Amino acid sequence: MSNNWRLTAGVVGAGTGGMLSIKALQSSSRYELVGVADVSEAARDRAVHQGVEAQMFPDATTLLETARPEVICVSTFAPSHPEIVEVALEAGVRGVLLEKPIALDWASGRATLDRLEREQVPVVVPHGLLVRPASSEVLRHVSAGRIGDVEVIEIECHGWDLINAGVHWLDFALAATPGDDVERVFAACDVSTRTHRDGIEVETEAITYAVTRSGVRLVMQTGDNVRPAREGKELVFRLYGSRGSLEFWGWEDRYWCRASDGQGSSMAITTTPPQEMSAHQIYLEMLADMVIKAEPQYELAELSLRALEICDAAYLSNRHHCVVTLPLPSFVPPASQVWCPGAAYRGRGGRDGRGL
Ligand SMILES: NC(=O)c1ccc[n+]([C@@H]2O[C@H](COP(=O)([O-])OP(=O)(O)OC[C@H]3O[C@@H](n4cnc5c(N)ncnc54)[C@H](O)[C@@H]3O)[C@@H](O)[C@H]2O)c1
Repeated sequence: MSNNWRLTAGVVGAGTGGMLSIKALQSSSRYELVGVADVSEAARDRAVHQGVEAQMFPDATTLLETARPEVICVSTFAPSHPEIVEVALEAGVRGVLLEKPIALDWASGRATLDRLEREQVPVVVPHGLLVRPASSEVLRHVSAGRIGDVEVIEIECHGWDLINAGVHWLDFALAATPGDDVERVFAACDVSTRTHRDGIEVETEAITYAVTRSGVRLVMQTGDNVRPAREGKELVFRLYGSRGSLEFWGWEDRYWCRASDGQGSSMAITTTPPQEMSAHQIYLEMLADMVIKAEPQYELAELSLRALEICDAAYLSNRHHCVVTLPLPSFVPPASQVWCPGAAYRGRGGRDGRGL
């Protein structure tokens, strides 16, 4: 129970994401960490060795029933998120920090957000790029028109996949194109290494291409073997506009801006001051405000769900060898067919492309 000035909080999943929430809760004056749950004894022991003093539990249900936290941080892998949110709502939590990706696919993510919205329980999804100094300054330049109209957003990401990491990058791309919707998604995945990550089968390498209603192109390469064109970088964002471009490197506190203003063009490298408060704490402070004022806001969680919709569409595009049009609920996979681009025409069927 809260002692008037602090919200009690619990964390489910004591791995990398969970520790970010644990540290943020411990740094905040508005929370008291009352319990941590993890199915792995080794993970619980590791958390204790890292100085976490809260009570440890073997699962979310026992944590919720015993410690009765008002706020829960769901920091397990995506496929388990909906079920843990459900258990937490049944236990009467007042706020949820839900890690990205919200769920394994758009439909279960939609159902989870609908459930939270119906119960009017606030939720935050910590997407660090929206609050880090360099990347949020890039967003401010875009919205101030510094590079003109955004035409292409290109992302190169080494060592990570579309759903676990790409969902962050797409969330950022959507934030850079407000008021616009992705209409078409096309993707191809190489699966030769049979890579799995965070409880999900993922691509060895993938290319995702999405087009918004206004014509902005999003082009994202993800995977084990992607080598970003910028020397020494593992993650590169390039935003090209009608009057310039911006480039930054994920979590780094620096960005480049090349812009022309009619009188000439300029190139500036800006270093932003290091972030004082962690991204997880910024999101947890937002959540505390929403819980205390009983004013839930869902825009940022909805943005995260739209990013997940693009991930889901990209995997469907690869699975069905077709362009996927959004919104996803209206997508019907085409009947499978034998048609091999690049092979000699077999002389029957199909459409004569010279008749375009
Ligand atoms: N927002 C961010 O910046 C950020 C950073 C890291 C991870 N994450 C997210 O956090 C989530 C977890 O990833 P991670 O990197 O911490 O993985 P991890 O492997 O480091 O930790 C996951 C932990 O959850 C535990 N777990 C799994 N299923 C459980 C269940 N049903 N109940 C209780 N415990 C369970 C595992 O034993 C493990 O200790 C993912 O959704 C990931 O995308 C987000």
